[in-house]
Formats: sequence, C-alpha cells, structure tokens
Amino acid sequence: MEPLVELRNVSFGYGSTPVLQDVSLHLHRGQFAALVGPSGAGKTSLLKLVLGTVQPGQGNVKVGGEPLQGRPAPRVGYVPQLETVDWNFPVTVEQVVLMGRVRCDGWLPWHSKAARNEVRAVLEQLEIDHLADRHIRNLSGGQQQRVFLARALIAQPDLLVLDEPTSGVDMRTAENVLHLLADLNRQGITILMTTHDLNSAAAHVPWIICVNRTVIAEGAPEDIFTESILSRTYQGEMMVIRHDGMMIVQQKPHPHTHHDLLPDPVPGHPAPRTTVRSQPPMEVSIVTEVPHAVAG
Ligand SMILES: Nc1ncnc2c1ncn2[C@@H]1O[C@H](COP(=O)(O)OP(=O)(O)OP(=O)(O)O)[C@@H](O)[C@H]1O
Ligand SMILES: [Mg+2]
Repeated sequence: MEPLVELRNVSFGYGSTPVLQDVSLHLHRGQFAALVGPSGAGKTSLLKLVLGTVQPGQGNVKVGGEPLQGRPAPRVGYVPQLETVDWNFPVTVEQVVLMGRVRCDGWLPWHSKAARNEVRAVLEQLEIDHLADRHIRNLSGGQQQRVFLARALIAQPDLLVLDEPTSGVDMRTAENVLHLLADLNRQGITILMTTHDLNSAAAHVPWIICVNRTVIAEGAPEDIFTESILSRTYQGEMMVIRHDGMMIVQQKPHPHTHHDLLPDPVPGHPAPRTTVRSQPPMEVSIVTEVPHAVAG
C-alpha cells in the first residue's frame, strides 16, 4: 500500500543555512511514530515539510500519495508546541475548536447549532467539555494540549502531526496525553509527533525516528534505544539501562569536581581542602516498561 507520508531525498534550509539533508522517510497508514533528536536537529522543520508550510530545497514530499507542491497537506491535523501559542488572544476553548472546522457556515457571523454540537462531541471525547466557555489562557498545560488536539480532531484528519505534545506538563499528564494519542491511533489516525521525552516515547510510541539533520535510524524502541544509536543521534554519550523488562535512557554524567561547584576562595580565607573527583548523583526521572508488542 502507498505510504500516507513520503519524503524522498529531501534537503531543506532557511535561506542559505542547511537544516535537513537527504531525508528519506515514509509513514504508513495507522503508524504512530515519534521524531527524537537534540534541539536544533530539524524535527519541527521536518513536521513543517509534512504540513506543507515550508518547501524542500531538493527532493519531494508526498502526503496521501500527492506531491504537496506549495499546497498545505489535506486531511492533516496539526497540534503546535504550546510554547508557540499567543495566550493573550481573547478566545474561549469552544472558539479555538470551532477554528479547526474545515466546513464553514457560509456568511453567517455566528456558528450553527450543528457546528457547536460537533465541538461539544470532540470536547466530550477528550473529557474537557466542562471547559468549553473558559479562556484558553486559564487552563493547565494538559488541558491546553487537549484543546489544541480537539481543534485538530474536529476536521477528522487522517494524519495528526504534533510538536512536543508532552512538553511543559508533569509526568502523569504527559502519560495521559500519550495514552490519548494511542487511543486515537487505535481508532485509525496516523500520528507523527516530536518529543524530548525518550522514556515516555520508549513506553508508548511503537516507532521511533532518530533525527539529527538527517534520519540516523528508525525502528521499534527496543531496537533504537541503544547506546550506540542514541550517542550518534545526540552526539554525546548516552546510557541505556535495561533490567527485567524495564528501560531507562539517560545522558552519561560528566565527571566533575566538587571544587568546580564552589565559589572562588575569598581573599584571606583558606581555600577548600578537598577537590574530590566524583560522579554527580544520577537523576532517574522515570522508569518505563518496554512495550511487548508493536502494532504493525
Ligand atoms: N524560521 C526560521 N528561520 C531561520 N532558522 C530557523 C527557523 N526555524 C528554525 N530555524 C533553525 O533551524 C534549525 C532546526 O530547527 P528546528 O526548529 O527544526 O529544530 P528542532 O529539532 O525542532 O529543535 P527543538 O528540539 O529545540 O524544538 C535550528 O538551527 C534553528 O535555529
Ligand atoms: Mg522543535
């Protein structure tokens, strides 16, 4: 079957600065994939290429079998990174979601009852219908994430593209967002997201694509989250701990001295006596289970 998203030998840059080089990638219908890689790796740029909001310098991008050629991708829902939203724009939850409707109500300056019912149904699906009249600014990060998800879902997309849907929320909310995405994926929506949260991705996302200016590797989390692939992707030493079906991904701590952390000696006072070389305490933020089966 033809892929839903296909990038062939795509290179892209802003002006003369190259950002992505020779990216070839495809997503089949029903896939749930996460792009991971360091800041500045080109993840958001890759999403923009799929959305058709930027054009490749070389190569081509097809969505639904059609080359984009300057048009926005059809039947694609986009959930932006929350940090990029203007929260001062005076708008309620219901109004944000109404903006996502592709069918408009003609010249009427108000929305039809049918449109408002559609909004209500999506808000109920995401369990935020009680927030319909709230200003979007006065919501928690997890609730805001659901509002933008609702705005994307109301257009009944084949493909959902999300930029860092788990950033800026606590671990439990991040897990909830990923469970919600997994449910939507089971209902048939193809999902492409970016994330910096490798541990959550390992537990919840069945296909991982490592990006750093190009695609470094892609596959199931248990094949991708290896020290060698992650170190190549992040260009720094990464550590993967596997124990009893659990996996923790962690950056290798750099050895440093306590002395590095102390202020310069004050004149007239003795310098600190000890400069012990040590490892800083390792912070393990989350322990995750490796998923057993990968949906095909
Ligand atoms: N509108 C723009 N104009 C010029 N350069 C840009 C623009 N947007 C991004 N860049 C540059 O392109 C490179 C890739 O940026 P991109 O936003 O795609 O990275 P990213 O992987 O999403 O990073 P992060 O994880 O921090 O979100 C960066 O060097 C960035 O500074
Ligand atoms: Mg980004």
